[in-house]
Amino acid sequence: MISMRKSKKCNESLTVMTNIVLPNETNSLKNMFGGELLARMDRAAAISASRHSQSTVVTASVNHVSFKHPIPEGGVVVVEAKVSRAFSTSMEIYCDVWLDNPITKEKIHTNEGIYTFVAVDKQNKPVGIPEVEPETELEKERYDAALRRKELSLILSGRMKAKDSVELKKLFTE
Ligand SMILES: CC(C)(COP(=O)(O)OP(=O)(O)OC[C@H]1O[C@@H](n2cnc3c(N)ncnc32)[C@H](O)[C@@H]1OP(=O)(O)O)[C@@H](O)C(=O)NCCC(=O)NCCS
Repeated sequence: MISMRKSKKCNESLTVMTNIVLPNETNSLKNMFGGELLARMDRAAAISASRHSQSTVVTASVNHVSFKHPIPEGGVVVVEAKVSRAFSTSMEIYCDVWLDNPITKEKIHTNEGIYTFVAVDKQNKPVGIPEVEPETELEKERYDAALRRKELSLILSGRMKAKDSVELKKLFTE
């Protein structure tokens, strides 16, 4: 039997994946192919969700991905994933991507992605997970906005009616 605490810090799920961009992972402009980066982000997010929930997890939704800066062939890519908020069985994972120059130490924030994972048992049935305790200002900011994003994701996937949202409605009315 695995023992599980009632709540955990965001940092306990921190997952960092560092890789070099190889030629077969680039597009015709010799920049990293978007799908390749998405696959790395999904893997890091899955590990992070599994660390938090101590369960098998599945991707329920990719809520947002932005590509702000191209990543060139040979670049060192760092994907950092952390659980930003946990609900009953689902959790939001925030992925930050950095282009890291190991020589100059310059770090450029190139991308971010927000994922929803659900903890499941062997029958693929959702199971309960620990809560999240945000500590830093950024963690608190992401924690506070996560419910709004969950509602938006549920509306876009047809699981919730817009009129039933609480947090999302507040964004437009307050
Ligand atoms: C994700 C999955 C387990 C949800 O199962 P379900 O029977 O619909 O379960 P529920 O309706 O109880 O939802 C479980 C949780 O996920 C959340 N959820 C489900 N779909 C969601 C979505 N699109 N966006 C945000 N949250 C979502 C629900 O709100 C609920 O959260 P909570 O318990 O924390 O409040 C199921 O849909 C599934 O197995 N999907 C396929 C996953 C997969 O194969 N992913 C890899 C793709 S290659």
